[in-house]
Amino acid sequence: MNTSSSANAKGANNQDSAKRGMWSSRLAFILAATGSAVGLGNIWKFPYITGENGGGAFVLVYLLCIAAVGLPIMMAEVLIGRRGGHSPVKSVRLITEHDRANPAWRWMAAVAVLAAFLILSFYSVIGGWAMSYVGTAATGQLAGQSADQIGAIFTDLLGSPVSLLLWHTVFMALVMLVVAKGVRFGIERAVTILMPALFVLLLLLVGYAMTTGFFGQAVAFLFQPDFSKLTTAGVLIALGHAFFTLSLGMAIMMAYGSYLPKNVSIAKTSIAVSVMDTGVALLAGLAIFPIVFANGLEPGAGPGLIFQTLPLAFGQMPMGSLFGTLFFVLLVFAAWTSGISLLEPLVEWLEERKGMNRMVSTLSAGIACWALGIASILSLNLWSGFAPLGMFSMFEGKTIFDLLDFFTANILLPLGGLLVAVFAGWIMSREALERELAMSPGAFSLWYRVLRYFAPVAVAVVFIYNLIA
Ligand code: PHE
Repeated sequence: MNTSSSANAKGANNQDSAKRGMWSSRLAFILAATGSAVGLGNIWKFPYITGENGGGAFVLVYLLCIAAVGLPIMMAEVLIGRRGGHSPVKSVRLITEHDRANPAWRWMAAVAVLAAFLILSFYSVIGGWAMSYVGTAATGQLAGQSADQIGAIFTDLLGSPVSLLLWHTVFMALVMLVVAKGVRFGIERAVTILMPALFVLLLLLVGYAMTTGFFGQAVAFLFQPDFSKLTTAGVLIALGHAFFTLSLGMAIMMAYGSYLPKNVSIAKTSIAVSVMDTGVALLAGLAIFPIVFANGLEPGAGPGLIFQTLPLAFGQMPMGSLFGTLFFVLLVFAAWTSGISLLEPLVEWLEERKGMNRMVSTLSAGIACWALGIASILSLNLWSGFAPLGMFSMFEGKTIFDLLDFFTANILLPLGGLLVAVFAGWIMSREALERELAMSPGAFSLWYRVLRYFAPVAVAVVFIYNLIA
């Protein structure tokens, strides 16, 4: 049975690839992976957690986490996917069969699929906020408004379960539409245009932010570390966010890596994706914080930060309605390409395990995720006082929305990343790793050591410290 399934594996893989297509080039993979990585995490979450955690020192830890933990693990994830050549769960199983390891490792991929599902349920709600702001900007409602008036637009949106539900539904529908069709050239082509456009628009916004007179203060806030403001919880948040923003620990890079042609360098592509992802996050910070300081806003304002700062700028700059609309359209696209990558693993798994066709599996996964999203929506208004785990001091005052975010980003993702590092570093055969990476011996041994020792220990220490502290 086993032999026949492995023997079929190659053929099935070729069929899959013909059906869903190998990436047409290295660039296509980079763009798709970047499409997944660059999303709300960069433009919405990074600035607000940086604000909440005091700036510079947090940014420094975050950059270290990206370079020393995130990047090596991204390489490992892509490598596992390309070596296995199938959906993440099956790829891991085939590798364990080949390397005579414990088949229980495939549960690693199952946890990853669960994490992606949970994230999408609230990610879609935020994607909905971005969509609603497209309308707000396009109809000129931001023009000439004060900080308080802009703040009220946001508070009104969060206070309205009906609008939130409407936009959440539209966002999920868009994600399902693409996933149901299979991620084909549509996505590949869309990200080719959209990602560069987002980059250019962010640069323009940074240009505007330079005119506010507070650019220097923002640069100091982001890049001058003040370690007295860094908490151990902050370190965990930085680590969790490194995984979140690079889309790691959710088997997504495995799934995308399985379509990567063999002759493409995994290291170079992973570096390209990480650099672009980090670049977008830093640009977002440089666009946002000058406006925050210029208008006397609070950097630690939380999840509403970008919805209260950038709109102020759009309301004051020439052609602000146009730029504002464009910006939120691009933000929606960035969120959309990430949302698609979040739904894909579960859909693939349902197809493989339950034998559902793509349409049915997309509908089941999408609707379940949509339904769970309603809990996040309600926790922003009607249930805002409901803290299900409030009896633990660590979770005091955390709503369902906060808990989902905390549990996925700070627990499931680091855990998933840790497992990937151990699996690639300790379970897979070294020859296979060397063959897939095809790097110089020096570079390989650096990566191998970081993956085997540094990354797992760093994640475990931060993790355990936060549990007991
Ligand atoms: N990386 C995406 C972002 O920064 C979010 C995401 C997380 C997407 C996990 C896919 C998987 O917005």
